[in-house]
Amino acid sequence: MRFDTRLLQSGSDPDATGATVPPLHLAATYDTRWQEQPRYFYTRSENPTREALERTLAFLEDAPFATVHSSGQAAGETVLSLVPPGGRLVASDDVYGGTRALFGLLAGRGVTVDHVDLTDPAAVRTALSDGADMVWIEAPTNPLLKIADLARLGPLARRSGAVVVVDNTLASPVLQRPLDLGADVCLYSTTKSIAGHSDVLGGALVCRRADLHDRFLAHRTAVGAVPGASTATSCTADSRRCRCAWPGRSTTPGCSRTRWSAPDCPSATRDWPTTPSTTWRGGR
Ligand SMILES: Cc1ncc(COP(=O)(O)O)c(C=O)c1O
Repeated sequence: MRFDTRLLQSGSDPDATGATVPPLHLAATYDTRWQEQPRYFYTRSENPTREALERTLAFLEDAPFATVHSSGQAAGETVLSLVPPGGRLVASDDVYGGTRALFGLLAGRGVTVDHVDLTDPAAVRTALSDGADMVWIEAPTNPLLKIADLARLGPLARRSGAVVVVDNTLASPVLQRPLDLGADVCLYSTTKSIAGHSDVLGGALVCRRADLHDRFLAHRTAVGAVPGASTATSCTADSRRCRCAWPGRSTTPGCSRTRWSAPDCPSATRDWPTTPSTTWRGGR
């Protein structure tokens, strides 16, 4: 299915009322006596409006699972909860400042964080030779717009036993689908390209692994960093329009390499060998 068709079809699966956009469920608690099969109890754990956004984001990446969070940071904190005490994280040498702050919190759990230039395959191989619990790739990075060859890094990282996380915030699923390139988890600050109208603060984790998804759900329910239903419904509507943020840009689902170009930042320009190219210009 072409990505634009996928976008058009997303977020509109009607409920029992036949509503063609997801209804806004503001209730904090639910009376299970009215439910044919009790499923909704308390909105910190489950909320139908939030689930509509999750289905939308999962559908855009051809993934069975997504969780949405109160911010990109909350999504990051959730995925980092997978790193065990005393574990090791290998990460891009350039990452968003807030992500660096989250990494700083890991020290309290005895986690070692090693930053590597992920555009240098030899450096990556050396860093992974000691094993890692997680590899965190931001692609493109914020702020330097460094590009990582996800198709090459994914298998390398997984051989070391690591969970591969890609922060795909700047690219959005319009231009890059890391799960197709071997990532385990795709992280978004939906505040950025997905919502795109500066009216939403949110985050998301999209994945194809049920074991990881279950852990994200359990962590989110325990911590409670969920987006409200109004935020979720805005984000669902915005995400269906996120293609508009990239007018004239072609997308190539399943393409293993991507041609990126950031004219304002020559060091970020990489021309990967590719089939019909996906070109991304600029960014924040
Ligand atoms: C690449 C990247 N990841 C994560 C975040 C954090 O997202 P949020 O501000 O929604 O918490 C940001 C925010 O700018 C970002 O640019």
